[in-house]
Amino acid sequence: MFRLGVLVSGRGTNLQALIDAIEEGRLRAEISVVISDSPEAPALERARRHGLRNVILPPATSSPATSGGGGSRREYSTRLAEVLRDAGCDLVVLAGFMRMVGRPLLDAFPGRVINIHPSLLPSFPGREAQAQAVAHGVRVSGCTVHFVDEGMDSGPIIAQAAAPVHQTDDADALAARILVEEHRLLVDVVRLFAEGRVRLDGNRAIIAGSASAREAGDVDG
Ligand code: GRF
Repeated sequence: MFRLGVLVSGRGTNLQALIDAIEEGRLRAEISVVISDSPEAPALERARRHGLRNVILPPATSSPATSGGGGSRREYSTRLAEVLRDAGCDLVVLAGFMRMVGRPLLDAFPGRVINIHPSLLPSFPGREAQAQAVAHGVRVSGCTVHFVDEGMDSGPIIAQAAAPVHQTDDADALAARILVEEHRLLVDVVRLFAEGRVRLDGNRAIIAGSASAREAGDVDG
């Protein structure tokens, strides 16, 4: 069975979308471990409710050895990679994980770490993407699933889904509309990975059997 490691920090609705798809037989995969950087994340409760192994991995409290930029990110990524490797994960999914990951994790899972972001990248990376979209007055936004690299929401794009932006939208209204698309897109992309249909060609993600990779939902079969 195709094994997922899901990294979370918050409420976990994207995690829930994966759980539901698996339980309803729409996604042939299993979640081997859910890792949260915070003991407070409601996502942990979702994992427990569904009998999933869950691990709380808080960042190390700052010490001379671990404080400051790259050093601590590296150390944290090493710990993440150990847990994910022990769980035998085939794919690592960042689903609302509010931390940047570093080389040790990316090297341990080459081409196997993905993130979901609530904008049409490369527009509006970083935090509060929906508020950025509203502030810019764009007419269309959406969500992106992309490979993770060491940058902020900057890795190769795998699939995107669009959502209209209404003139009356505030960030919350737009976020709710995009979230519906996120849940569908994430499941679709994980399914493509489980079927072995996603690969990297340089800086571009290629989906086998898809003429139009505009949206994973377009892919038939
Ligand atoms: C989602 O909007 C996701 O795109 C972003 O963080 C949010 C997480 O939501 N990276 P949830 O925790 O999955 O409900």
